[in-house]
Order: sequence, then structure tokens, then C-alpha cells
Amino acid sequence: MLNEYHPIYEQFSHNAHVVICQGDALEELQSLPENTFKLVVSSPPYNIGKEYETQISLDDYLGWQKSVIREMFRVTAQSGSIVWQVGNYVDASEVFPLDIYFYPIFKELGMRLRNRIIWHFDHGLHASKRFSGRYEVLLWFTKSDNYTFNLDAVRVPSKYPGKLHYKGENAGKPSGNPLGKNPSDYWRIIRNELETGRIEIPNVKSNHPEKTEHPCQFPVELIERCVLAFTNEDDWVLDPFGGSGSSVVAAIKHNRRGMMIDRDTIYNTLAKERINSFQNGTLKIRPLGKPIHQPSGREKVAQIPKQWLEQTQERLI
Ligand SMILES: C[S@@+](CC[C@H](N)C(=O)[O-])C[C@H]1O[C@@H](n2cnc3c(N)ncnc32)[C@H](O)[C@@H]1O
Repeated sequence: MLNEYHPIYEQFSHNAHVVICQGDALEELQSLPENTFKLVVSSPPYNIGKEYETQISLDDYLGWQKSVIREMFRVTAQSGSIVWQVGNYVDASEVFPLDIYFYPIFKELGMRLRNRIIWHFDHGLHASKRFSGRYEVLLWFTKSDNYTFNLDAVRVPSKYPGKLHYKGENAGKPSGNPLGKNPSDYWRIIRNELETGRIEIPNVKSNHPEKTEHPCQFPVELIERCVLAFTNEDDWVLDPFGGSGSSVVAAIKHNRRGMMIDRDTIYNTLAKERINSFQNGTLKIRPLGKPIHQPSGREKVAQIPKQWLEQTQERLI
């Protein structure tokens, strides 16, 4: 089925459905109307020297981010949310978890933390001097106590739907919710393997249909859950560091309006192509809630290498 086609605007307009704005996040945010976006969701540069950033001191980085967050807060709707997805800043092999540094910045603005969500993934770089990092964090803040939260829209299948109350007036009746269970604050969603720099299990490749040349692309699935839970149809979603456009795709997939800002021309072109492919029905997206591939044990890469078995035998002789 083709999705409804919306023209892509280059600047915010209340009439638009899709906006890709090329420019600096702080400057562009300053020109946006206040109390407008139901969800502001982003993964900012982590100041770790990726190709799209210049590394600066942690203090300077946080000072810049504070100005950006102040503007994001201004443009967020009264019943809206900000979801800030971050990992670690690393300096001289020392790890600085960015959510710890960001929390007081949001709190000083009067925002309320509703969840600190752990996004767990299975693949990534193998550390040799500390445990390998296998999670990042989504800080979910709301602007007020009167906020949109559509839990039913994001329920996941219960493990034991047949469980019954065993005592009291409901004894014998199902104890769960027929729509499924709360997905909790621990999300296991496949991360794009280009970001991790590794494709360890060839079979998994077929589970990553979204791969682009952007080095740290959001899986659309991750943002879909936020869009469904924190916004209603026709609401505005904004990603001020939009990269490959995953947040906008997630927004328009669910009949919301989506805007992204990115200063990089190549990423903006890539985002435009992805959004257009989505709109003409050709973008491959990993379906929301699709189970994560589990190796059967028969794959070559899931078997113990012949050389290791030989070494073990030699040791036993
Ligand atoms: C961590 S990536 C975000 C990727 C995005 N979540 C996605 O799904 O592709 C950060 C993005 O911020 C952009 N960026 C860096 N500094 C910026 C600035 N001052 N203003 C706007 N965009 C910026 C980079 O070009 C990069 O695409």
C-alpha cells in the first residue's frame, strides 16, 4: 500500500507534514514557534570525534548542549515530551555516561523525568580494558504533569497470557491485559550494524534492512515506540540532530508531522531519499516488534571453530 505523499518543506510551516531543514540546530531552533512539538526526540553528537563533529572539552560541549536544550524546551508543547538518547563520552579510556551530565540540565528547566530507558543491543566493539558496552540510554522527560502517554498503543505480547488470578474475587479470571504488557524501561531493539562497525553474524544482516551510510542511525523501530506512546495523530515530532531521517520516517508512518534539522548536506539528501522512498512504499524498515534473530546453532558462525577444538584436544593429550 502506498503511503500518502506529502511534499518536503525546507522550513517549518504549520501546513507542512514533512520538513527537512538544513542548518545549525541552535540557530534553527531559535526560529521555531514555542509550545509546538509534542515530541522532541534526538541523539545529539556525543563529542567523541565522529566524522560529523569536532571534539571539544566536556565543559564546552555541555555548555553548547545546554543552549540547544533550552530552545528545545521552549518549542516543546505543554503536554509534550523530550526523549534524549545518549551513550558515553570517552576521554583517555575513561568513560563519562552522558545521561548523568544531561539530567541536571533538563531538571533545571523544570522538566520531569518519567523513565530512564535502557536500550540494550547485542553487537558492538569488543573492549579489552573494560567490559564491552552493550546499552545506551533514553531519558524521557515531560514538560508538565499533564502529558500524553498512550500505553495501549505500545503494549507487547505477554509472556504468559494464560495466567489467572489465583485468589480473591477475580480468582480464575485472566490476570493480564488482553492488549499485552507494558514494554518496560528495558528495550531490546536491534541497532544498525554500521554504527557498531561490525557484522558478526551474517544471518543478522537480513534483519537490518535499514542500513545507510550514516554512521549512527536510529532504527526506525526505536522512534516508532516513542511516537506512538508520546504523541497523537497529526501532532508534530522534531529531531534537531536528524541525521538519516529515521525520526521523520517514524512520525509520518503513524500519521504525525515530522521535522528534522541537520547541518550536513549529505545526510539531508540521504534523509530526503529515505523519506521519499517511505512515501512511495519502497523503504525497507524492520517491522515494529519483530523478534530479534536467535542463531539456531547450525550456522557456521555459531559453531566452535575447528582450530579451537583441535587445541583443546592437544591440551588433553
Ligand atoms: C548522532 S547523529 C544523529 C543520527 C540520527 N539519530 C539518525 O537517526 O540518523 C548526530 C547528527 O547531528 C548532526 N549535527 C552535528 N552538529 C550539528 C549542529 N550543530 N547542528 C545540526 N546538526 C548537527 C550530524 O550531522 C549528525 O547527523
